[in-house]
This record gives sequence, C-alpha cells and structure tokens, in this order.
Amino acid sequence: MARDSTEYVTDSTRGKHATEQNDNLELYLGQIRKIFDTSRIIEAPRDKQQVVNYFLLNKLSYRLGFNWDGFIHCGISYDGKSKREDFRQQARMIERYIIDNDARNVLELAYGLGPNSAFLASRNPDVTFEALDIANKPLARYTKIPNLHFCYSDYHDLSRFEDNSLDIIFVIEALCYSTNKLHVLREVKRKLKEGGVFIVFDAYTRNRASQLSPSEKLMWQLIFRGCALETFERVDKVEAEMRKDFSIVMAQDLTTYVLPSLEVQESKARHYFNHPAVARAINKVLAFDVVKHLPMVLLMPTSVRRQIGCYYLHALKNDR
Ligand SMILES: C[S@@+](CC[C@H](N)C(=O)[O-])C[C@H]1O[C@@H](n2cnc3c(N)ncnc32)[C@H](O)[C@@H]1O
Repeated sequence: MARDSTEYVTDSTRGKHATEQNDNLELYLGQIRKIFDTSRIIEAPRDKQQVVNYFLLNKLSYRLGFNWDGFIHCGISYDGKSKREDFRQQARMIERYIIDNDARNVLELAYGLGPNSAFLASRNPDVTFEALDIANKPLARYTKIPNLHFCYSDYHDLSRFEDNSLDIIFVIEALCYSTNKLHVLREVKRKLKEGGVFIVFDAYTRNRASQLSPSEKLMWQLIFRGCALETFERVDKVEAEMRKDFSIVMAQDLTTYVLPSLEVQESKARHYFNHPAVARAINKVLAFDVVKHLPMVLLMPTSVRRQIGCYYLHALKNDR
C-alpha cells in the first residue's frame, strides 16, 4: 500500500444549509411522481451502451442547460454566486499541478465536449495534451488547437499510450461511470511517470453513519439513475481503492462551492415541474433518455443540503 501524507481540506461551511425540516424533498418527489413513472428511471438498463446513448442524446440539452462552452460539470463558486467563469475552475486547479510539476505530457479521461483540455492547451502551448472519451465528439472549435489531440476511447483501456509517459492525467465528473475504478486506477498508474499525478474531480455519496430514509433513498436513486450511473460510491470506499496504488496528496471537499451552480439548474427545472400538463406533453415528444435526468437536476441540491451527495478533488501521486 502506498504511503499516505494526505492534505485533507474539509468544507468548513458544511451543515449550515437547510435541513430535513425545511427543504422541499417531499414536495419535489410529489411533483416528480405526477410526471414520471419513477420505477422506469430507476430500473432503466445501465450498461456501457446506455452511457454512450445518454451522453450523445443529451449533448444539446447539456449545452443549453449548463453553458455554451460545453462544460458538462458543476461550476465551483467560491463567492457563493454561479458565474460562467466558475466552470473553468477545475481546469485552473489542474493547471497549478501542470505548472508545479513542470508537466510536458497531459491526458484527460472523458473530455465530454472538450472544453477543459482546450482551455489548458491554449494557455500552455509547450505542453502536449491528449484527451479521450467514449461517446462525445469535441466541439469543432476545440479541434483546431495544435497541441491538443482528441480520440474516441474507453478509459478502462489506456493501451494506446506508452507506459511511464505521462506527467498528469485528469478526469472531471466521469470516473463515477466506472464500476471497476481499481482497474482504471491501475491503468492510470502504469501510464504515469514516477512522481506523476492523477487528478480526480467527482461526486460521491458522503460517508454517513445513519441510513437514508425511504424518501432520501428514492431521491438518491433518481439522481444517479437519471444520469445513467450505477451508483455514486462512498468517498471512503473510493479513497481506499486510490490508496492501494497511489499516495493521496490532496483530498478537498468542494461540495459547498458547487452548490450555487446546482441551484441555478434546480430553479430552471422548477419551471418544468411546476407545470405538469406541459411537462407530460414535453415527455411525449422527447426521448426518455433526455427527460429522465430532469428529476436529478431538481433534486441534486437537496441531496447536498441533506449531506448525502458530496463533491471532491483528489490528487494522487504515483510514487511507485
Ligand atoms: C458528466 S460528463 C463530464 C465531461 C467532461 N469531463 C467535463 O468536465 O465537461 C461524463 C463524460 O464521461 C464520459 N465517459 C463515461 N464513461 C466513459 C468511459 N468508460 N471512457 C471514456 N469516457 C467515458 C461520457 O461520454 C461523458 O462525456
């Protein structure tokens, strides 16, 4: 097992949000049941092809819902207000590792529409960036950056890259799609140089002592099944897997800071759920894979306020 000298950064504002007594969980679940057969969302197949279909079908809705730059992830808002710039925050944090490690070769797993690597490659022309994704094509404007190369690939198989060749590998909100994270971690370790860093931004189930209530359980299932996920694993379980091959040099709880961007999405979703007749008509026209994530959008902030969902940055060092 690798040595551990982790810097833990906890979320000091945690617990200051609404609690079970004054949030909208029951109201929201009632609104969702008026529009959806919740078991259809929960029991939908969740194999690799479903993940691919989900992201291909939702390319436009993610751009409309999140932002036109193509980020399919939460913004990180340190001042409590969601702004366009906040979606670049993950890439800015990764850039610090690129600079500090004097990195020359960087790989992004699961680039989505390509904005993270595009941002970093434009600002760091002497660094070579590779990026892969299983479903999406990058936006056309990101394909013209000379030091950035995109390819279709599954992050469970990194054989196209040379062993010990990469300084930094990163993944934003996509490792959660793996049901075999240990395998991905081992692939990544093999491709990283000694001293190289793997950076993971992702959502998890918070380590909790108490059981979820039936309503919370339904909420949580609607959230992860709504975006074609098997589950969100607990932070401590994934950290235990990370420690098998890496030293965790940073574990930062960013949950409070992603809440503002989630709340913007929640308020947009409320328009749809407040008009059930219109919503049902929309559902008849659009593919189920497109609308099934709307309960997730509505419920995500409640899961955070109830201390069930959480969002972390982990930086893992390959010290062999
Ligand atoms: C929530 S999006 C995040 C996209 C991007 N990282 C971002 O920050 O905008 C998740 C992405 O993971 C990709 N993905 C899921 N499973 C994958 C796999 N096994 N290999 C490669 N990409 C995968 C999906 O195609 C999708 O583009």
